[in-house]
Order: sequence, then C-alpha cells, then structure tokens
Amino acid sequence: MLSPTSTEIIRATLPVVGAAIGDITSLFYRKMFAAHPDLERDLFNRGNQKQGGQQKALAGAIAAFAALQLEPDQARVDLILSRIANKHASLGIEPAQYAIVHTHLFDAIVEVLGDAVTPEVAAAWDEVYWTMAETLIAMEAGLYRAAGVAPGDVWRQVRVRERRHESADTVSFVLTSVDGGSLPAFAPGQYLSVGVHLSDGARQIRQYSLSSAPSHQDWRITVKRVDGQLLSDGSHSPAGEVSNFLYRNVFENDLLDVTTPFGDLVLQDDDAPLLLISAGIGCTPMMGMLSHLADTEDTRPISVLHADRSPSNHAHRAELTELVERLPFAVMHRWYEDLGARRPEADLRKGRADLGEITVAPGTRAYLCGPLPFMLGMREALLEKDVAAENIHYEVFGPDSWAAAPA
Ligand SMILES: Cc1cc2nc3c(=O)[nH]c(=O)nc-3n(C[C@H](O)[C@H](O)[C@H](O)COP(=O)(O)OP(=O)(O)OC[C@H]3O[C@@H](n4cnc5c(N)ncnc54)[C@H](O)[C@@H]3O)c2cc1C
Ligand code: HEM
Repeated sequence: MLSPTSTEIIRATLPVVGAAIGDITSLFYRKMFAAHPDLERDLFNRGNQKQGGQQKALAGAIAAFAALQLEPDQARVDLILSRIANKHASLGIEPAQYAIVHTHLFDAIVEVLGDAVTPEVAAAWDEVYWTMAETLIAMEAGLYRAAGVAPGDVWRQVRVRERRHESADTVSFVLTSVDGGSLPAFAPGQYLSVGVHLSDGARQIRQYSLSSAPSHQDWRITVKRVDGQLLSDGSHSPAGEVSNFLYRNVFENDLLDVTTPFGDLVLQDDDAPLLLISAGIGCTPMMGMLSHLADTEDTRPISVLHADRSPSNHAHRAELTELVERLPFAVMHRWYEDLGARRPEADLRKGRADLGEITVAPGTRAYLCGPLPFMLGMREALLEKDVAAENIHYEVFGPDSWAAAPA
C-alpha cells in the first residue's frame, strides 16, 4: 500500500506520466544500455528492443501497476506481476539489479517530464517503483526457492540427445542431463530459456515451452525458425537470430545452455473440462499439457483445437492425433488455411479457427497460445460462450503487453 500522500500525488500525476510512459521507457533502455552494454548484449532480447515490444510491455506494466494502487484489484496485480516474475526468474534476474533499473528509469522520467518532477512527485513515483520492485523480488525469491536454486542461479548445460524435424520449418530438441542425473521437475505448460553465443559475440536468450510431459526423463523443446518478413515499405525484417541459430547449428550430442523451467501458464490443479486452443507454434505448451494428461490417464472432457497454415506446417501433427486417441474423452478440431488436396472432414476444416460449432462444457478452463490477434479473437468467442474470464489462461510468445492492458 502506498502512503496517503503518495497516493494523492500519483492520482494527480498519473495522466501526465501515463501519457509519457512510452517515451520514458524507450529512453530508459537507451540510458541503461549506454551505461551497461553487457545487459543489452547478453541479457535483454535485442529483437524485442528493436521491435519495441519490451518497451511497450514495461510501460504498460508500470502504468497499470500505478493505476492499481488507486483502485486496488489484487487478482490483476497478481496476474501482471506473476507473468513478469516468471520471465525474470527464467532469466536469473537478481535483487541487486533493481537498483540499476531504478537509476536509469528515474533519470529518464526526469529528462522526459522536466520541471513537472518536483521532489514530492519523484518521492511518490519512487514509492510506486519500490513497491513493485519489492513485490517482484519477493515473488522471484519464492520461484527460486521452489525450484531449489539460489537466486539467479538458473543456468545449466544439457546435451541434445535427439533432433527431429516436426514440420518444414520446425525442429524439436530432446535435452538430457550431461551427467546422467535427473533434470529439474516442471509443470506442463512451462518454458525454459536458452542462451546462445552468436557470431558477433553477443549471448542472446530466448524462451521455449517444454513440448514434452514432466514424467519423461528428458526435456523437449520445439523451435520454429523465424524468417525475415516483407515489410510495408518493401524492405525485409531480419531473420530471427536465436531460432535460426538453433535450427542451423545445433545437432545431436551438442551442449546447450538452458535454465530451470518457469512460467505461469500451467494446468490448474482441478478437474475442470479443458479446452486447449493453439495456432502455429503455439502448439508447444499444449503438447506438454496433453502429453501429461495422456500419461496420467486423465478422464475429463478435453477439446483440443489447433489452427495452422497447412498440414505440412503443423508441427507435431501426428503426435497430436496419437495423444488425443490415448485420452478417452478428448476430441480434436483442426483448421488449415490451405488444405492442399485433402478433403475437409468432421474434425478437419479449411479456413481459420472458429468456435461457432464447438460445444463448450459448463465450467470449462481454456488455455490459449498463438499470435496475439488470434488469442484476442478466441477470448471474445469464449466469453460469448459463457466461459468465465478467470478461466481463460494464455501464453504470449513475446513480451506480454496483454496482461497489463485495460480489461
Ligand atoms: C514464454 C515463451 C515461450 C515460447 N515458446 C516457444 C516455442 O515453444 N517455440 C518457438 O519456436 N518459439 C517460442 N517462443 C518464441 C521464442 O522465444 C523466440 O521469440 C523466437 O524463437 C524468435 O526468436 P529469434 O531470436 O529467432 O528472433 P528475433 O531475432 O528475436 O526476432 C524476432 C522478430 O523481430 C524481428 N526483428 C528483429 N530485428 C528487427 C529490426 N531491426 N526491424 C524489424 N524487425 C526486427 C525479426 O524479423 C523477427 O520477426 C516463446 C516465447 C516465450 C516468451
Ligand atoms: C520494477 C522493476 C521492473 C519491472 C516493472 C519490469 C517489468 C518487466 C516486464 C513487463 C517484462 C516483460 C515480461 C514479459 O515477457 O511478458 C520484463 C522482462 C524483462 N525484464 Fe524486467 N522489470 C523490472 C526489473 C528488471 C530488472 C531489475 C532487470 C535486470 C536488469 C530486468 C530484466 C528483464 C529482462 C531481461 C526481461 C526480458 C526482456 C525481453 O525478453 O525482451 N527487469 N520486465
């Protein structure tokens, strides 16, 4: 809780700070990286920096957190901070680093807002920052403790036991411990971070969901190679750095630097009917969940919905069918934009995913993963089918600016 004085100052200054928060976070990263080039090179995702996704996610989180100090809603605070804390834990962020962020964030606030930042205004926003930081530090400490590691000590080497093509542009890597010991436990739906050393000397980190079940001795991740895109001005964006590095350079017996798994998109501990909805490479956390459900011989109703460009683009296509067949009350629906020469069938449709004909059982929990516009559309359709908002869970494969967005 903020002090009453700070609460009033935040109420008065939130509109101004909120309007400038995008400029503030962009300047903050420029300042922090000028002072600590190693953070840009070896910790932060430079693709997200270039695209602006991380700046947007940070701006959204700070503005939402400040607004939630005025109109408290603990569930929303928990959602926003849990998402960030899990990402931080998967990167090994440590408490001492919060002072670095504080210095450059407040330098940026003063530079953008100028004289509007009186000592009283600075003190009130300082209180917001440290309330947020201390909550994150405590959540991250809890995550490290639960994982049985010292704060920040999340990295380990694993050996690639198997590499397999799962579709034309997707490969999976089965990862095993180097010394034959067991790998840390994880919950179905969680992800790990992979760190690779690129040719320019940078160590870049990306997250990959575990596409295997926790009961398996090894871990498996599935990586889609990200191509450069044709942009509206006729130029091309660059090909994805880490996904292409993994696709081109990592083979059986290679060692890979990865972290202990984290992530808050996990199967809840209840027996609610399930709806697993994915598009494209968003299938990976669903494969982990489904594989776990099949291994534990789950008997609840489960609907698995997947959308993809075509059958040949659909990673883990055959495995998905096998898993659904192993589950007594599971049904599957697939949509492909291009069906090729195949004819539509009851569970195989041409076009984009559409919940219109899908029966949703009362009390259903839905898990979504895919491009943000796809998930937003699915969420709308689920709400129309009376799925409770709190029963709709999702994972964004990038900086999450959805969690902090106004409901
Ligand atoms: C929790 C989580 C789980 C994930 N799980 C998976 C998974 O299971 N499988 C999977 O394949 N992926 C997964 N991802 C995504 C993955 O982490 C990477 O984001 C993805 O592999 C792309 O990384 P990259 O280094 O190849 O691309 P980057 O180099 O990071 O590029 C990303 C995009 O930015 C664009 N870009 C880069 N620089 C510029 C520029 N200067 N101008 C314009 N555009 C630019 C690129 O063209 C590309 O489209 C997950 C992400 C998260 C957060
Ligand atoms: C109160 C302080 C902080 C806030 C509000 C904050 C907020 C955020 C948010 C919103 C994200 C995006 C989460 C997502 O992917 O969905 C994020 C990611 C990240 N944060 Fe923080 N953070 C804070 C402190 C720190 C500190 C101290 C560090 C360490 C220097 C740090 C490093 C990172 C990194 C490396 C990422 C991932 C970036 C990427 O993948 O592009 N953060 N943080």
